[in-house]
Parts: sequence; structure tokens; C-alpha cells
Amino acid sequence: MRQLGFELFMQQQIETLRSEFAQDIAKVAATHDIEALKVKYLGKKGPLQNLMKFLKEVPAEQRPAAGKWINDLKEEISARLEASETTLRATEESAKLSAEKIDITLPGRNRFPGRKHIITQTLDEMIDIFASMGFSVQVGPDIDTDYYNFEALNFAPDHPARDMQDTFYVAKDVLLRTHTSNIQVRVMEMQKPPIRIIAPGHAYRNETITARSHVFFNQIEGLYIDKGVTFADLFATMDEFLSKLFKRQVETRFRPSYFPFVEPGMEVDLRCLTCGGSGCNLCKQTGWLEIMGAGMVHPEVLKNGGIDPEIYSGYAWGMGVERVILLRNGVKDIRTFTDNDMRFLEQFPGV
Ligand code: DAH
Repeated sequence: MRQLGFELFMQQQIETLRSEFAQDIAKVAATHDIEALKVKYLGKKGPLQNLMKFLKEVPAEQRPAAGKWINDLKEEISARLEASETTLRATEESAKLSAEKIDITLPGRNRFPGRKHIITQTLDEMIDIFASMGFSVQVGPDIDTDYYNFEALNFAPDHPARDMQDTFYVAKDVLLRTHTSNIQVRVMEMQKPPIRIIAPGHAYRNETITARSHVFFNQIEGLYIDKGVTFADLFATMDEFLSKLFKRQVETRFRPSYFPFVEPGMEVDLRCLTCGGSGCNLCKQTGWLEIMGAGMVHPEVLKNGGIDPEIYSGYAWGMGVERVILLRNGVKDIRTFTDNDMRFLEQFPGV
């Protein structure tokens, strides 16, 4: 009777647990629910452990059978939990994967990488053309002495360009260079002929800022000194350079002009790119566009650079970079280069 009592009691307990578990597992929806059930049924404080403790009370001959019931239920519970965990994990993983799937039909996102400023783009192009003709790049200082900017370049002491109106002085005899020509005598001091250099850089002038002139602008200077350099070399080089720069066969005109550091000095004009010479707004009805200053290096300047004008001769030229862009790209106002207006800058995507 007592034996039967234990047996019944154990069976009841086990059946109750089994059906409770069956209800619980039926409700499981995710792997974390399985974790909770593992703790609930198989944990140290779970009902199966309690039954195990109760085994001590069971008469010895009944104990193995009772122990087996408990163990069978424990194994059954673990097996069902494992099985349902495996299926749930697989479903969860595939749901996660399909959530992460890249939709290749979505439109791409635009990236806006930086780009070179149109001035830099244009300078790069000019440098490339001269590099292909054997010129190398030198850079002079933005802040320089009166000597290299003026005196060594044969500017008479009372030359108007030395006037405070045109030049920003930093201190007595120290100034912001008014042109890239300040490189000329420095290069002559450092190198022996043949000298074949170009020098891009900023120039500064104390002028009123307008659509056509600025206190701050860019120039590129060229200098070629060797034995027997003549005007013909200058013409040929300029024609070749300008044709490459404007990507067409340009027609040039060399007009006498005065620069203290060249003799003879001249201004180079281009046959108008817009009207071809018949007269339009761009060329102010003249049919020609001023593009650069040039000339044969003055003997005094060669001497200042330690070069004997009896043996060597050379040519030099200088041009404004902004001016080239005004002509090539139809930019109307030089101030737009430094306004930093994205709408302006974006017109020049570059490479
Ligand atoms: N430095 C001159 C200017 O800024 C331009 C120039 C003219 C440069 C004649 C030269 C040259 O090298 O030969 O207006």
C-alpha cells in the first residue's frame, strides 16, 4: 500500500510536469524562450531536482524504477528543448540574413569627393605642357625683398610700380611680390645655363578689387637662358604652348611693350577665340586678346644673376592664370575664384 502510494505519487508528479512542459514548449517562439525553459525545468532549483531529492524517501526497492522515470523525463525534456532550439535558431538566422540582404535595386548614394580648384587645374595643365618641352618647375617666395622683386630686375628707383599704391610692403624693402618675375635672378644665382624653368605662384598688388583686377592673383613665369637663344625660340615656344593650352592652332601677335627686365619687351596677343578677329565683346572689338608679357632677358638682369650677357642670352615671359580661365571657360568676374561658391566651383569637375 505504502509502495503503491509512492509509485502513484511519483507518476502523478511526473505526468503533471510532463504536461506542464508540453504546454510551455508549445508557447515557445524564440531561442531566448528555450533558454528560460532550460532554467525552469533543468536548473538546480527546478522540479526535476526536487523530485530527485524526494527519491531518498522512496523505499529502496522502488528507487531505481522511480529514478529512471525522473531521468527519462529529464532526457525527454532536454531532447525536445534541443530540437526546438535547433529549428528556431535556423529560422532566426535566415530571418536575420534576409533582413541584412543588400538590395541591389536601390539607387546608389552620391559621393562628393573634393576636387582641384579651377586655378589649380589650369596651372597643372600649363605645367604639363612646359614639362613636356623640357622645362622644370621652380617656386619663389611670396614675401620677398625689394631687390629680387624690383631692383635686380632693372626697375629704376623711381619706377611707378615701386610706388606704395601698387605694392604691399611688409617692412622696409620687404614686400609681397608683385609678380612671379622675382624668381628670375634667384634662379640665375642658383643655376648655371642652360636654364629652362617655369615658376607658378601668387602675386599681390595693392589695387581696387573689380571684376577684372584683384589684390591677389596667380601667375606663371617662364625663363630660358642658354647660348644663342633668340626671339625665334620665344615665338616658337609661345605658339606651341598657347596652341596646346587652347587646344587649337592659335594665331599670335607680338606687340612691342615695356618691361624694365626685358629688351625688347612685348605683349603677346591671341587672335580672338570667340569672333576670330572680326570684333566682339570679349576682345572689345579689337579682334585680339592680350594674353602675356614676354621679351628677351635684359643684359643688366643677366649680369645681376651672375651670367655673362656676351655669352648667354635668354627669353622670359609671364602670364596671369585667371586671365586664361576667363578666356577659356567664359568666366566673367575674377572675384568668383575666391568667393567659394559651390555653384561656381562645381562647374569645373576636373579629373
Ligand atoms: N611680370 C610682368 C607682370 O607681372 C609680366 C612679364 C612681362 C613677365 C614680361 C616676364 C616678361 O617675364 O618678360 O606684368
